[in-house]
Amino acid sequence: MAGIVGEQSLSVTEAASQLHVNKSTIWRWIDSGRLPAYRVGQRRVLLRKVDVENLVVPARGNVTKGETMNSAQRTIRPFTAEEQERAHLAVEQARKLQAAQSRERGGKPFSPSWELLGQDVDRAGHSDAEAICNLDAMVLGRSERRDYLEAAVRAGHCWVARGAGQVVGFVVFAPTFFSQWFIELLIVHPGFRRQGVATALIVHCEAACQANKLFTSTNASNTSMQRLLRKLKYRRSGRIDNLDEGDPEIIYVKRLQTDRQ
Ligand SMILES: CC(C)(COP(=O)(O)OP(=O)(O)OC[C@H]1O[C@@H](n2cnc3c(N)ncnc32)[C@H](O)[C@@H]1OP(=O)(O)O)[C@@H](O)C(=O)NCCC(=O)NCCS
Repeated sequence: MAGIVGEQSLSVTEAASQLHVNKSTIWRWIDSGRLPAYRVGQRRVLLRKVDVENLVVPARGNVTKGETMNSAQRTIRPFTAEEQERAHLAVEQARKLQAAQSRERGGKPFSPSWELLGQDVDRAGHSDAEAICNLDAMVLGRSERRDYLEAAVRAGHCWVARGAGQVVGFVVFAPTFFSQWFIELLIVHPGFRRQGVATALIVHCEAACQANKLFTSTNASNTSMQRLLRKLKYRRSGRIDNLDEGDPEIIYVKRLQTDRQ
């Protein structure tokens, strides 16, 4: 957050409305590095009002350059062509692997629960960071969480599910929610969904949790995650408005000792 503390800030939605452009235009400027952005927590992105104002320049004549930020201060950098290529290759490989596995099984459906392969969930190592970032960027459509994910891997807060040796899902889990254990982020490769990968990752977090309750949250619009949480006996524990405009964040909790009995 350094660089934005004490500054007047705007959300992406507010910046789009002030400049009369689509939110996607703002994201494009962020991704290209034209507009510096600052991540606050896991999902929220803030912009300095002064940077947004500096985008408005006279159509003719001398342009007075506004204060610019050096690249080290930018929390978001463009997704390079090489990274895009790697992400596409990862998807292709995953599809081929899944097809090959399916053929080996004579078309028999995969196990309904990845838990049976519990040994395939382990702590992410340095060598997993690239695959995690690529998977995240592919699902999110942007590479803005790279710094956050690399830091989570370094801190030992990231766990991966592997299928045939490759990363098919990951979870970031740490005591970061008002000092409570919290599942911050959970992503499963689109080619491996509805096979129990997320279930296995959450079950792993529950086993590794060093308290008797585990929190997580998701947007009200994310029905897949909410169904998953209900299935795993998580209960609603409040909501936070005003993070994503018009899409409240729903908090969930599971009391581990009680629920395990
Ligand atoms: C949400 C997500 C993590 C689920 O991963 P997954 O590996 O497919 O989940 P599981 O296979 O363990 O699903 C277990 C149960 O959750 C529910 N569920 C999961 N995805 C669902 C979907 N798309 N629609 C309806 N129910 C769903 C089902 O009850 C499912 O059991 P079933 O397959 O026996 O019906 C995955 O879709 C994803 O990565 N989404 C994008 C990122 C995201 O939204 N992350 C969560 C917020 S950080």
